[in-house]
Amino acid sequence: MLGLNIAAKPLFGLGLQVGLMRKSLVAGNWKMNGNSASIEELVAGILAGAGSSPAEVLVCPPHVYLAQVAAALCDSNVKLGAQDVSVEASGAFTGDVSASMLKDMGCSYVLVGHSERRAIHGESSVLVAQKFVAAQNEGLISVLCVGETLEEREAGNTVAVVSEQFEAVLDLAGIDAMKNAVLAYEPVWAIGTGKTASAEQAQEVHAQLRAVAAARSVEVADGMQILYGGSVKPSNAVELFAMADIDGGLIGGASLQAKDFLGICAAG
Ligand code: PGA
Repeated sequence: MLGLNIAAKPLFGLGLQVGLMRKSLVAGNWKMNGNSASIEELVAGILAGAGSSPAEVLVCPPHVYLAQVAAALCDSNVKLGAQDVSVEASGAFTGDVSASMLKDMGCSYVLVGHSERRAIHGESSVLVAQKFVAAQNEGLISVLCVGETLEEREAGNTVAVVSEQFEAVLDLAGIDAMKNAVLAYEPVWAIGTGKTASAEQAQEVHAQLRAVAAARSVEVADGMQILYGGSVKPSNAVELFAMADIDGGLIGGASLQAKDFLGICAAG
């Protein structure tokens, strides 16, 4: 059903691919929230409205609920993703979950490099790039998150910071890997704070990120989805998603309420 109704953005940005369109994607990052009962209710609420979403829809539950959510989503077009992945394939890595396990549970996507993993778990750009490659090797689509802190923005380092985070992945995985991956710009100061980047602030960084990719391949840059994340709500999604280089959103808090999440999907 979704396939008939997917919103798409003309590739005006870099111009060469006349006629090609980028689809929009709205992804819910549930973080470490919920229990089996609340998740059952949330999935049912999302499924009740996702069929009319103009955007592709993705949900990323905590690992322990992947099987439950996979079973509930099975006859729908809503995609399943995980929030993290190990760089290792298998073995003595207590607490970790491999890309092949995520695939086995029905995931087609995985978040890598979320700022909470970078900040709380000390994940470096090199480790994030290794996770990206581990996901890619299993055919999972990474949603690679990049973003600057408030201090970095105020020091005028936004573009340098997000470029370094993105280029670490491009250096290891190669630009063609972005044909099957998604980039998410999430300013750290906007995550869970209620402060959203203005549509213009976000667009400026998205355009810079697309230019980083274009320096390696204009074709890949033109086709690459770049999501915005950071306090997206139904009330600001339309303005954000209307920007030329914003191809949907990565949603935290507002993805925990089916009504709000579907309201954001409707803006896709
Ligand atoms: P938020 O989180 O929507 O609650 O700001 C976004 C994210 O961390 O992906």
